[in-house]
Amino acid sequence: MSKMHATITAAGHYAPEKLLTNADLEKMVDTTDEWIRTRTGIVERHILEGGALSDMAVPAITRMLKNSGIGPEEIDLIIVATISPDMFFPSTACIIQEKIGAKKAWGFDLSAACSGFLYALVVGAQFVENGSYRKVVVVGGDVMSRIADYTDRNNCILFGDAAAAVLLEPTEDTSLGILDHVLYADGSGGKVLYMKGGGSLNPPTHETVDKGMHYLYQDGKAVFKVAVIGMAEASAEIMKRNGLTGKDVDWLVPHQANLRIIDACAERMELEKSKVMVNIDRYGNTTNATIPMCLSEWWQAGKLRKGQTIVLASFGAGFTWGAVLVKWNAENVAQN
Ligand code: UT7
Repeated sequence: MSKMHATITAAGHYAPEKLLTNADLEKMVDTTDEWIRTRTGIVERHILEGGALSDMAVPAITRMLKNSGIGPEEIDLIIVATISPDMFFPSTACIIQEKIGAKKAWGFDLSAACSGFLYALVVGAQFVENGSYRKVVVVGGDVMSRIADYTDRNNCILFGDAAAAVLLEPTEDTSLGILDHVLYADGSGGKVLYMKGGGSLNPPTHETVDKGMHYLYQDGKAVFKVAVIGMAEASAEIMKRNGLTGKDVDWLVPHQANLRIIDACAERMELEKSKVMVNIDRYGNTTNATIPMCLSEWWQAGKLRKGQTIVLASFGAGFTWGAVLVKWNAENVAQN
């Protein structure tokens, strides 16, 4: 048995240029900047105008490769966590493989909604830990603006578009890298957060379009309560079984769905706000991109440093949720 650990050695992210501000949304639906800020913490989001998920993933991966110093032909495996792939098939992983010239890589898409990046990170880590592969790219990204209903004020104000990627490589030092994970699913949650149209159950017809079935639906209130509990309990579980308290954790990297969920989770973990990565104000909820976006931004700004202990935590449709414990091991790219 290999004693390798998988470790994140580089990250990169991309958000499209066009902004959708709260002021813009005030003109589209019956809402106010004040309501959105106080209820969600969101100020603006980025929107992809043309193209598809792969057009955001490619620049994110290109930046990640630049930060790592490796070339695309060295990549062994590409895993894409998304709920808004370019199309049902071929997989966005295959589309990306061709676009970046990762000639020897194989890959696949993984669907677990807002927990997709954590699921994909853990799946990718298995291949590194068992010695199968040495360079695994895990991408999280979504074009949420394509499935948001911009006539529904309950949901359209929440989402934005972005992609981010991390590189997993092996290390023999088992005190570093991805140390532990807890992942969960509860299919009974499918009643309050879903997109019903487009799959084999409800293939696209005029009727499914007329009924708005190709848009995301969420009962926000119902999801809110379980999201706080799920993220906090998964984080607490992983800390407890690794003998850690809030004092030992340098950063909580939570899924960015609502600032109030993030604050409640941090409070339950007894973590100061200064130890919580928050960028929801600038991006909104980018679903699979939220956690790797935070990692990439904080790392490239020199705030996430080698040797730091971080807890990644998510909650999303399915329901799916979990937490991953990481000892950050990427060389510092910036000095602050
Ligand atoms: O990422 C996947 C997981 N998703 C989540 O974790 C999201 C969880 N849910 C949430 O973040 C929050 O529930 C929302 C932000 C979606 C909603 O916040 P809330 O505090 O739960 O509001 P609410 O749904 O209880 O609505 C309160 C009021 C309602 O009016 P009445 O019935 O009290 O008169 C809504 O109609 O706010 C109204 N409302 C709005 N008002 C202005 C709902 N959306 C808006 C809006 N602008 N955009």
